[in-house]
Amino acid sequence: MSELIIQASPGLCGAVDVSGSKNGALPVLAATALSGGKAVIRHIPKLTDIHVMLAMLESVGAQIYGDEIYYPNLCPERLDERLAHKMRGSFLLAGPLLARTGRVRISMPGGCRIGARPIDLHLKGFSKMGAQIENCHGFIEITAPRLHGEQIYLDFPSVGATENIMMAATLANGTTVIENASAEPEISELAEFLNNMGAKVSGAGSDRIVIEGVRELGGAKHTVIGDRIEAGTYLLSFAVTGGHGTVRHVKPQHLSPVLAKLREMGAKIKETEDSVSIDASKILCASDIKTMPFPGFPTDMQSQFTTLLCLAEGTSVVIETVFENRFLHVGGLNRMGASIKTDGRTAVIEGGRHFTGAKVEGQDLRGSAALVLAGLAAQGETRVRGEEHLKRGYDDMIGKLQKIGAKISILN
Ligand code: UD1
Repeated sequence: MSELIIQASPGLCGAVDVSGSKNGALPVLAATALSGGKAVIRHIPKLTDIHVMLAMLESVGAQIYGDEIYYPNLCPERLDERLAHKMRGSFLLAGPLLARTGRVRISMPGGCRIGARPIDLHLKGFSKMGAQIENCHGFIEITAPRLHGEQIYLDFPSVGATENIMMAATLANGTTVIENASAEPEISELAEFLNNMGAKVSGAGSDRIVIEGVRELGGAKHTVIGDRIEAGTYLLSFAVTGGHGTVRHVKPQHLSPVLAKLREMGAKIKETEDSVSIDASKILCASDIKTMPFPGFPTDMQSQFTTLLCLAEGTSVVIETVFENRFLHVGGLNRMGASIKTDGRTAVIEGGRHFTGAKVEGQDLRGSAALVLAGLAAQGETRVRGEEHLKRGYDDMIGKLQKIGAKISILN
């Protein structure tokens, strides 16, 4: 297993060009299966999860040339189950395949380390729209000759359920209303792409989304938005090393809860239309964090902030409300000198600590990023196992960190 070797890298500085958003690109790629026309998708990040999604699209008949995707023949029954099993995000193909072909058979996604992650809300939505759902031998078979529009209330503003139902509803008979919908920026991005294909989606970005079904969708061009979580992680790389720098090609409004926290902790933040600069040369102070659906503080930034809070002056409390098991990085951070106590979904962090380099192992994507950040701030050498997790969500992390002065390399 490969290891990242990280040496103390005080005062990182410079600019990072943010790649396309993983969570933005995945549903947009899935949505291409809704259309008989050609889709042109630019700024797709080079990530394992994206490769899996592209391979899944090919398995159902997509022809992919560079950034062009076209389906001469869409065959949902040829969906590659081994791939579907690899990534939870693969379930995003269920809505488009169901809406376009009337049937889909897909592996029941399992839980993952950060939580059970059921798909009941996706299925409840399809069922309300008239789909028959059968769960047998680990597969879910969903059929509906044509879905019909419905009023759907989500018990929780699930990102994936909102996206899946929104995509399925574009080709349904009648109007679908999703209440208590997710308002994450990636939902607005998906709605924009769907509308460019000829769909009639309004209200995306609010908790009530209205989708008027149409008969068919055509081709469209789209540029994936900058990855707000990648951007936030690099902002924290400057913060944990007492440095200063800029993340480019990201919309500051997508980072508003993260920037609010950094300002509260004493960092100087400057925003332009598509970049954010941070100066964290002064010691930061403690802050409490509670993860919530957008525009609340993102769960995908919780692990990385936990690292920063270990260095800040004072005691911080972090409450994780979105996933039930998202403190997998805490063991590694404590091994490196942190003082973090967890109880269920709450972590209490005694700040003002110094990290010392150690051998640690990442257990999930963002938790691994938290350990890399700690390594940059630590005295001595840190070895982080778990590069395969990082490759799911960070396009060229090592190259980008080296460019801003980090002493980081990979040992295969
Ligand atoms: C997406 C993001 C992920 C992010 C998460 C929350 C993608 C590819 N992934 O994941 O990076 O951490 O949003 O912002 O976009 N839930 C149910 N039933 C369901 C669906 C969800 O109980 O049918 C629960 C989940 O178990 C979890 C919570 O709702 O506890 C949030 O899940 P959801 O918003 O659906 O996250 P994902 O779409 O899986």
